[in-house]
Amino acid sequence: MHHFQYKNNELFCEDVPVRELAEQFGTPCYVYSHATLCHHFMVFDQAFADVPHLTCFSVKSNSNLAILSLFASLGGGVDIVSGGELFRARRAGVPPERIVYSGVGKTREEIDYALREGILMFNIESTQELETINTRAAEMGVSANIALRVNPDVDPKTHPYISTGMKKNKFGIDIESAIKAYERARSLDHIQILGLDCHIGSQLTEVSPFVDALRRLRVLIERLADIGIGIRFLDLGGGLGIVYDQETPPHPHEYALAIKEELTGVPCTLIFEPGRVIVGNAGILLGKVLYTKRTLHKNFVILDAAMNDLVRPSLYGSYHHIQPVIRQEREMEVVDIVGPICESGDFLARDRGLPMMRPGDYLAVMSAGAYGFTMSSNYNTRPRCPEILVKGSEVHVVRRRETWEDLVCLESIPEFLRTAPAAASGSSL
Ligand code: LLP
Repeated sequence: MHHFQYKNNELFCEDVPVRELAEQFGTPCYVYSHATLCHHFMVFDQAFADVPHLTCFSVKSNSNLAILSLFASLGGGVDIVSGGELFRARRAGVPPERIVYSGVGKTREEIDYALREGILMFNIESTQELETINTRAAEMGVSANIALRVNPDVDPKTHPYISTGMKKNKFGIDIESAIKAYERARSLDHIQILGLDCHIGSQLTEVSPFVDALRRLRVLIERLADIGIGIRFLDLGGGLGIVYDQETPPHPHEYALAIKEELTGVPCTLIFEPGRVIVGNAGILLGKVLYTKRTLHKNFVILDAAMNDLVRPSLYGSYHHIQPVIRQEREMEVVDIVGPICESGDFLARDRGLPMMRPGDYLAVMSAGAYGFTMSSNYNTRPRCPEILVKGSEVHVVRRRETWEDLVCLESIPEFLRTAPAAASGSSL
């Protein structure tokens, strides 16, 4: 369910015509619906209302300060994977005791920062990382709260780039070695064992891989209890899929039911790290048709939005529904929807049926709220889009469009290159 609907053939975000946003703020731009964000967060969170839990929104899916602060105000925490994400979360007002920190390559600076902030726990992904965190905590005279991220070796049946819980993936500590790693953790003076963590992948459209992983974790929790290691927090990561096209992912209630059933009698506080399921369908990317081009082989609709704005179709071959902002009776045609970037990999959709577009028409790329803006770049020296948050009839710019000046402001030309070209000598060219 989301609040991007047509009224009289015109696409609205809540009470605001999307065309007005495009005209006022220009394109490309991201538009988020406040009501959809709240609804998705609440539905997920309330599915676990009857068990102790903490919903830690996954910052990597959408890291805008306004969005982080919205979820914090709804009682959520965050899942972070870098010092930068920690900085954002703290800036957005997320309390440190609601922050969990995953990632295979935490640097010393990032570890120190998280220790200073006093986050809920580090999800540790290797024994070397465990030793490093212990050493840093000792040096700072503090104790580090940790969970071990375990790789349960289950196939999440999703795109290989976003599968994380199989033996061949770089994530977590393999489940066979977990007991030894926990024993080592227990022996370290500046480590406090708090939990167990696992994240098996993203855009999962079935419950069964989650349940398979959970069964393995449950056995591990029991074996740890036998040797006197108690697990207070069980972090099950994120990964619940959404509808982009024809998928039929489980509803959060169905997911919650399956998990709660598996965990009867396990006295842990559950942590979840959902990203996509909360924000994915709460955001769209707006683009304007610059040109249409018909060749002997293909028809192209050339938009001002490109792979630098939304890389998912180019990177994963992902499907995003693309629809006209104003619906009109027009002949249909099959087109590739592409951007201005100088690569044939720059497309948002291929062989897509669309009403015949004309220059100046607006298109909405749907389900772009997760891994949209956060994965955008300045490739081809294109300024990154603004992000607009709509709440009822209110419109808030939560990130302004970058300017060309922004794009060069961190760079400098060394003195030796500043000599006027006419005065330069010694060039044999
Ligand atoms: N926790 C951890 C440790 C993760 O690595 C991820 C996602 C999540 C939680 C959130 O997963 P979600 O609920 O959003 O599925 N860029 C890709 C997705 C990469 C996911 C990486 N990890 C895409 O656009 O599909």
